[in-house]
Amino acid sequence: MKDDETVVAAKLPGELLERFSEFIAEKMCLHFPRERWPELIRGVRHAAKDFGQPGAEACIHWLLSTPLTTQQIEILAGHLTVGETYFFRAPQTFEALAAEILPELIRERLNNNQRLRIWSVGCCTGEEAYSLAILASRAVPDLKHWHVTILATDINPRFLHKAEAGVFGAWSFRDAPPWLQDRYFTPRPGERHEISHAIRKMVTFFPLNLASDAYPSLLNDTNAMDLILCRNVLMYFTPAQMEKVVEKLRHCLVDGGGLVVSPNEVSQSLFSKFESVHLRNAVFYRKPLPGALEPFADVIAPVEVAAPPPPPPELPALETAHDLFDKGFYPEVLSTLGTQPSDPQAMSLMARTLANEGKLADALIWCDRAVAAAALDPVMRYLRATVLHEQGNFEEAMKTYRRALYLDHDFVLAHFALGNLCNECGHHRDARRHFRHALMALEKLPAHQVLPESEGITAGRLEEIVRTLLESGETHD
Ligand SMILES: C[S@@+](CC[C@H](N)C(=O)[O-])C[C@H]1O[C@@H](n2cnc3c(N)ncnc32)[C@H](O)[C@@H]1O
Repeated sequence: MKDDETVVAAKLPGELLERFSEFIAEKMCLHFPRERWPELIRGVRHAAKDFGQPGAEACIHWLLSTPLTTQQIEILAGHLTVGETYFFRAPQTFEALAAEILPELIRERLNNNQRLRIWSVGCCTGEEAYSLAILASRAVPDLKHWHVTILATDINPRFLHKAEAGVFGAWSFRDAPPWLQDRYFTPRPGERHEISHAIRKMVTFFPLNLASDAYPSLLNDTNAMDLILCRNVLMYFTPAQMEKVVEKLRHCLVDGGGLVVSPNEVSQSLFSKFESVHLRNAVFYRKPLPGALEPFADVIAPVEVAAPPPPPPELPALETAHDLFDKGFYPEVLSTLGTQPSDPQAMSLMARTLANEGKLADALIWCDRAVAAAALDPVMRYLRATVLHEQGNFEEAMKTYRRALYLDHDFVLAHFALGNLCNECGHHRDARRHFRHALMALEKLPAHQVLPESEGITAGRLEEIVRTLLESGETHD
């Protein structure tokens, strides 16, 4: 006998289901071809209860006719996504990470900036991100002198709350190495285990929808990654969305940075702009080092100080550069701006472009020039602070965020970033104060308004993110 959803799928107009599948692909990347319509209907039937709709068909009509908030999209995603994960999933990948990928990265950084940035994309309930944190804590010598960032993002805030709580049942350990629980977890009632505080605090969880949120971006710290794990996520996406997401993830990597997918997502065509690196038991993709085309150092080296005008006919170039920046074409942004832009806006774009590529020292030079050229502009201070923040120069970053806020008390992004920095430094009470201030300022703005300097984040979206952060355990007094 056919199950309920197959029967409903057969009764609903095909045209409606087709339109709805396209809508889902656009809003959350997910792929529901005809053979998966029964699954789609099962998800919508459950979502209908949350949305107060009488059934699947009514819910589909309602979803297609209502401008949805991010929160509603997240609820829907919660019913349509697969939340399957566990510690050290695909052990051969983790072996390659432990034995080859991480040691190489660490060797490279040891005498350089001692900075390591890793992102678990589609982290689900956090097992992958914590597995990475455990590996990093074992591999990095003298951890407290390093600046290790492990970012973990997902579309589903319920998964993120569970991840942050850090308490896991036996099923999460189904393929874990025998030493894991003893060394890194404390037993809790009901055969559950809580992750150690030291590992917990290495990971930052953050809501991010791969279909609509901005990345790379300094704001959500998705830029200049050394290593991205995006496993068992792309396989659920439409081919067109896969391509878009992979291209954006490529821009989130530093040159030479690595992208790890699951063994069943390996594809020559999808990752054609990467080099495939074949290790003993795993394959990963490396963003190629720049060829002769993008000599960044040459582009910026000859410039001396923030040279004031003569005012050049620069505006159209700047507009084009902004456009290219939005598309993630960073080398093209730099060549459009030329070697010595004198407009502070162009300088700040130069800085953001370099920062998004992980060239932080060069980005800071341009921030300093932009600050010198527009001393009273809080945006330039903010930008300088974000670069210092990323360099791990927390003290100077904190001062510079405060200077930005001195120039504009209601500067939402500066409150938000300073809140994050305070959290990183363990000043949770101050973090809370800045998040609250950001929230008050955000509530005054229309939800759809794109925040200046945010690379496309709307006031409504940031408000939700700030609320999530305020609800999370870390910011509690
Ligand atoms: C099967 S889990 C993979 C978890 C982990 N990466 C692993 O391999 O064990 C897929 C995750 O992708 C997330 N996801 C699906 N669509 C997404 C989107 N558009 N943006 C961000 N995350 C998404 C889901 O919420 C889910 O947590």
